Amino acid sequence: MAANREGIRMISVTQLGYLGLSVRDVNGWEQFGAQVLGLQPNGRDPDGSLFLRMDEYHHRFVVHPTGKDDLAYIGWEVAGEEELEAMAKRLKHAGVAVTPGTSDEADARRVAGLIKFGDPSGIPSEIFYGPLVIFDKPFQSPRPISGFKTGEQGLGHFVVWVDDFDRSLHFYRDLLGMRISDFVNFSPAPEVKMRVVFFHCNPRHHTIAFAQMPRASKRLHHFMLQLQSLDDVGATYDLCQTQEVPIAMKLGKHTNDHMVSFYLRTPSGFNIEYGWGAREVDDSIWQVQVHTAGSVWGHQGSL
Ligand code: FE2
Repeated sequence: MAANREGIRMISVTQLGYLGLSVRDVNGWEQFGAQVLGLQPNGRDPDGSLFLRMDEYHHRFVVHPTGKDDLAYIGWEVAGEEELEAMAKRLKHAGVAVTPGTSDEADARRVAGLIKFGDPSGIPSEIFYGPLVIFDKPFQSPRPISGFKTGEQGLGHFVVWVDDFDRSLHFYRDLLGMRISDFVNFSPAPEVKMRVVFFHCNPRHHTIAFAQMPRASKRLHHFMLQLQSLDDVGATYDLCQTQEVPIAMKLGKHTNDHMVSFYLRTPSGFNIEYGWGAREVDDSIWQVQVHTAGSVWGHQGSL
């Protein structure tokens, strides 16, 4: 629950539950997900879609063989059916076309119920409740890492390019109920001004961030996986270099979430941030900040 600007508690999405990816090479992703990222493959559906685990959830990623090498959909979680209905009502009231998920669609996602809609840039989005969790089959990484920080903070975070900054800001704040953490304003070139907004919906500093770029070749800029240990990040940094996995940005520390991370290039061309040690948001004392640099140190390279 978040409080709106009048101080009234409003229902919000609670975490990033899952992401759907559309890729050309699912086999390549299975190998990359397991042997580089440390995600656990958890079988495929008859259409060839691959499930990847990172915790007790049946999956956090569905990798579809649909060839776009981009984000396919976003899966936002709410607490239960009542919250799902309230979110559907709020979206419809704002003029968003909302489709209830069929029972077959809920089964395919391994959730109890869902709704589907598009965000202001047309990014396919879903809100669901009741994910399948398998505590009886504990997560086991194929790599010797201590694991991922998820729980109430969800899968991690992701960054997308949007068509219209202000419309998207209104949508994620006032309809999905997320809160602004901060802004990063910077100039990638002398004549170009870029504004990035970061939103949270739980103690994770940001779950979604975006900047405006209407004709971006891919929606997805990167997603972030947070590790339990700095050694997991360092060992994976070494592994990328020995196995010649392209590193888009070297080790560094971000200004806003204080994450120590590096960025690696996926087989689909977008990036993954692999990080540790982010600070968390306490909504009772958090104040929005503005930054003009992305990193305190490091992160050399280009995204
Ligand atoms: Fe990030």
